[in-house]
Amino acid sequence: MKRLTHPLAPAGSGDTDYSDPTFSATLIAWQQQHGRHTLPWQNTRNAYLVWLSEIMLQQTQVSAVLGYYARFLERFPTLQSLAEAPVEDVMAQWSGLGYYTRARNLHKCAQQVVAQYGGVFPSDPVLLAELPGIGRSTAAAIAAFSSGTRAAIMDGNVKRVFARVFGIDTFPGEKKTEAAMWRRAEALLPEAGIESYTQGLMDMGATLCTRSSPDCGRCPMQPRCVAHATDRVKDLPVRKPKKASPEKHAVMLAIVHGGQVLLEQRPPTGIWGGLLSLPELDGHTPAEDDDIPPVDDTLLLAAVQPFGVIDTHERLLNVTHVFTHYKLHIAPLLVTLRQRAAFAGEGRYQWLDAARVGDAALPAPVKKLLLDVLGDAGDSQGRLL
Ligand code: ADE
Repeated sequence: MKRLTHPLAPAGSGDTDYSDPTFSATLIAWQQQHGRHTLPWQNTRNAYLVWLSEIMLQQTQVSAVLGYYARFLERFPTLQSLAEAPVEDVMAQWSGLGYYTRARNLHKCAQQVVAQYGGVFPSDPVLLAELPGIGRSTAAAIAAFSSGTRAAIMDGNVKRVFARVFGIDTFPGEKKTEAAMWRRAEALLPEAGIESYTQGLMDMGATLCTRSSPDCGRCPMQPRCVAHATDRVKDLPVRKPKKASPEKHAVMLAIVHGGQVLLEQRPPTGIWGGLLSLPELDGHTPAEDDDIPPVDDTLLLAAVQPFGVIDTHERLLNVTHVFTHYKLHIAPLLVTLRQRAAFAGEGRYQWLDAARVGDAALPAPVKKLLLDVLGDAGDSQGRLL
């Protein structure tokens, strides 16, 4: 059966028929026989109890929620009692569960349901999703469990199950893939048995179709699972594509004289904020291909001149330091002075004994670089230093 597409829907969306009644039939039968039936928020249609559990279970595992759920309900047994409580008491009960915006929104939501709906949660997932802390998927779960409303959930577990069973090999966090997954989720909803179906998706994702140790042998979807048939269970869902990390470059000056090296305190913000490091050569633009071109003598002279008169200078091998968000290519330049300027070593600059480099608060790659340079070149005969 072809689904009708809204005339204003973007081209290419909603024109695929994802309906597949055996999916829900298989899942419902499995859930009823093998799924979880005794969780404390099950076997009730009390929307307060269901809502509280779904908020606690956002980004948090069942095992971590159980104790909090029981204690929370002892302190706030009804929606009314929660709405009337000071927010500090709510936060105290939530303390340790993490993601505290959930607790603030929980309290706001309770007050809003009392004020707007006379203390009765709406059963329409669209209205539920307008309340604080309730997104589209949570709204669907609350509506399904508390009033049997047919509505689709979509969280990390469901995405993983779908990616494997249907062989979806694009990143589920990408907008287009996620939108298609939502359309699929809507199309797969059963005509009856939404509670078992919704719980079945959650149970499968949490107990069988897990990220790192899927139990395909017990999975009711195994005979029809595309990932299993094509030996891609470990590869699906595909991981977030890594962005190429940007490359930055710095020419660092190791200016040495009389057994000491010149250090500069870095600005308080930015990388290595406030740490001592080597002075850097400004105005030196590297080429496209990572390579740092020969250092311009005029630039070098201008940079070193406040500290003394250059005796020798030598480019050392580049060092690459990998940060979480970028790579820093360091081109070190060893500069020996013939004579140190009288005013050098003031303000943010200081001379450090080579022997103390190992203990100084220097960024790790800078320390390593200096120990290599001074260890090899700044030898006991004092050739360089
Ligand atoms: N995760 C989110 N909602 C859940 C529920 N109702 N039961 C088990 N795990 C869940």
